[in-house]
Amino acid sequence: MKEKISLKQTDPQLYELIIKEEQRQREQLQLIPSENYASKAVLAPLASVLSNKYSEGYPGKRYYQGNKFIDQIEKLAQERLKRLYQAEYANIQPFSGAPANFAVYLALLKPGEKILAMDLASGGHLSHGAKVNLSGQLYQTVFYNVNPQTEKLDYDEIEEIAKKERPQLIIAGATAYPREINFARFGEIARKVGAYLMVDMAHIAGLVAAKVHPDPVPHADVITATTHKTLRGPRGAFILARSELGPQIDRAVFPGGIQAGPHNHVQAAKAVCFYEALQPQFKDYARQVIKNAAVLAQKLQEKGYRLVSGGTDNHLLLIDLRPQNIDGRTAALALEEAGIIVNKNKIPFDPGTAVKPSGIRLGSPAVTSRGMKEAEMEQIASWIDQVLQNYQNKQLLEKIRREVVAFASSFPVPGLDS
Ligand SMILES: Cc1ncc(COP(=O)(O)O)c(C=O)c1O
Repeated sequence: MKEKISLKQTDPQLYELIIKEEQRQREQLQLIPSENYASKAVLAPLASVLSNKYSEGYPGKRYYQGNKFIDQIEKLAQERLKRLYQAEYANIQPFSGAPANFAVYLALLKPGEKILAMDLASGGHLSHGAKVNLSGQLYQTVFYNVNPQTEKLDYDEIEEIAKKERPQLIIAGATAYPREINFARFGEIARKVGAYLMVDMAHIAGLVAAKVHPDPVPHADVITATTHKTLRGPRGAFILARSELGPQIDRAVFPGGIQAGPHNHVQAAKAVCFYEALQPQFKDYARQVIKNAAVLAQKLQEKGYRLVSGGTDNHLLLIDLRPQNIDGRTAALALEEAGIIVNKNKIPFDPGTAVKPSGIRLGSPAVTSRGMKEAEMEQIASWIDQVLQNYQNKQLLEKIRREVVAFASSFPVPGLDS
């Protein structure tokens, strides 16, 4: 590629690091459920002159001149996004998931008002009001958890908490929840207590777009999502809403305070991502993501692993490693030595800490993008088991690492090879 040749000449040190990272992404199995491979078409605008432009404001209402083409790009992305989700309003400017969430809080709440969200410990996200996050400092926050027995959401309990606490905003959506979320029920609860319902579908945006996960659009007042997870786009986010909330969300994104000039190169890459997600092949991809996660779950269960909630309905799995007497950190490090990339993760009601939790979180989106199917999931489950049973055996980890490199090399990497 032209860009690579010029980078190699100008900055060989950085060039080498990118080449090494390319090799790592090619040789290892990427099982972190929030990661994916963007296509060459999505990556192209990121390395384009669109990065040079300033365009504070919105199409037709900019504070800078020279935005004739940028306006067209932003409108194209918005139209595609609205079509993808049949949404009334879309804002494609948020830089990432956490700022998108913050824009919604700024738009709908006054400081000190109350948010009801899923507890971080049950799989919620930091930006949903955790005390260490600004969202937990500016707003009052109360949390719901999963049921300790089923490890699934208990909607009757959420309704009880909502009736008692009377929040102004209820958030549905998670970062480590392997089950479908009943958005219709969340909508009913929110209406009963007069709260707005925000759905953060960052993890499942691609599954929702492909209609392989229940759709939050008819039930939520506002929806946030990231573009870089199951949706396979660039790093970034967007907000959807009922049309009457549009003007206040626009104002919260800009000039409300969390960001100024939109990243035009990323907006263009989002437009490509939405185009790709509108194609029929994207549905096949999303269906395979779910099938692959289900097979990975089943094969690991057959080998004696305990999955939080007993399985998965979506793209991710949480494994409780206490029966194996390994903590999540040790497991993730051993798997990395064998070329299998997962993340350590707390499980619900975890007696461990965030640095040394009891579980690992893994998922199928990235390996599915490389064309892996059920048979490959069975092989991956077998390697995971061998590593976890022999995590101190360096020789075996090295042997598996070499096998993984050979195995991975027969699956093209989107963005690099295809
Ligand atoms: C549910 C959820 N919301 C928001 C975010 C934050 O997204 P970002 O890292 O793009 O700020 C994440 C990230 O993993 C997430 O899982």
